[in-house]
Amino acid sequence: MTALPLDPSRIRAHFPAFAEPSLVGQAFFENAGGSYTARPVLDTLEHFYRATKVQPYGVYPASIEAGEAMNRSYERIAEAFNVDPDWIHFGPSTSANTYVLANAFGGWLKPGDAIIVTNQDHEANSGNWRRLAARGIEVREWQVDPQTGRLNLTGLDAILDAKVRLVAAPHCSNIVGEINPVAEISARAHAVGAVTAIDGVSYAPHGLPDLAELGADIYLFSAYKVYGPHLGVMAIRPELARALPNQGHYFNDAKLRYRLTPAGPDHAQIAAVGAIADYFETVAEIAGGTGNPFARARKAMRDQETALVRPLLDYLRGKNNVRLVGPDDAESRAPTISLILSEPGATVAARLAKHGVMASGGNFYAVRLLEAMGVDPNHGVLRLSFVHYTTPEEITQLIAALDVELP
Ligand SMILES: Cc1ncc(COP(=O)(O)O)c(C=O)c1O
Repeated sequence: MTALPLDPSRIRAHFPAFAEPSLVGQAFFENAGGSYTARPVLDTLEHFYRATKVQPYGVYPASIEAGEAMNRSYERIAEAFNVDPDWIHFGPSTSANTYVLANAFGGWLKPGDAIIVTNQDHEANSGNWRRLAARGIEVREWQVDPQTGRLNLTGLDAILDAKVRLVAAPHCSNIVGEINPVAEISARAHAVGAVTAIDGVSYAPHGLPDLAELGADIYLFSAYKVYGPHLGVMAIRPELARALPNQGHYFNDAKLRYRLTPAGPDHAQIAAVGAIADYFETVAEIAGGTGNPFARARKAMRDQETALVRPLLDYLRGKNNVRLVGPDDAESRAPTISLILSEPGATVAARLAKHGVMASGGNFYAVRLLEAMGVDPNHGVLRLSFVHYTTPEEITQLIAALDVELP
């Protein structure tokens, strides 16, 4: 295996789960469903619940501290994304955030306008937008290649014109794993006057992107898959967030943060989510070097994962009873590896559990994708997903288990 840029033991020291006796020996390959929580996030949550569990933004010390902790999260997540804090909104989950956004777009778009959705997305960035058809919006589908599950830009070009106001697409599908060219998608959308809503849920655990580089107008991720608490994070271009009709209380119309998050999520989790940025800075420190810590963390995490996934891809390439979804080169994908097998994915996952491998099978709410690829969503795929804290030994453990269970 190529030398790893991140020392796994130094990385894992920041995750209490790795010191949890009940989890010792259990290799975690279900990270795309939710990652382990980083220590600074847990510490901030614990402190908030213990010391500042009061109404925030008030006049007494505990309340002032609570409000400051929450404000800090807007600033820290913005810094990691390389945007201003007024881009950042915290909602209960990505599914809830797109639900609210789609309602807001419903009041902003005009009958006859068109939007583009894909059949590669998790349903969270698909179904809510598709419902706009009932409000007179034309919904166009950017379709995957049924063989590879890939979204080709030529497919987008064929349906993009001046009627289109929104392109909703994934940065990375939670099944295909290929990293989509978001900068090019955004440039194409902007050229016809449309905005982009990018589901970054499956990409963000592998490094929060520089949004200035990506050019996305809306970028969503779920913090519980990025070492954080159960919150949905939205970065929205402030001009767009102001232009969309207010979805919150009428008297909060002038407060950008309140306009698109009517659920009012848990204050403690808002305070804790900024600690994800603290953890990313720790990753940068472990990686070494100089320059922007978030860029360094992103590169180190990607390099680590690319080195870790290579032996697994090599192994899978040699197996002819396995259909790998998405590209088989490490560079163009996240380490979210889905396999189409003769048996249902969940059946094989249950057998892997006996080898101390935590994985799962199913359709992972990407039902449209599986249907487009000719896979029964109830049969599903076996999904093996990992991140930078996974060790080479765990990859070896996984391959040994697969060798027994997929002979
Ligand atoms: C790619 C992708 N998008 C969106 C979601 C929905 O996120 P949430 O659970 O925060 O609603 C998921 C959840 O698994 C996902 O994998």
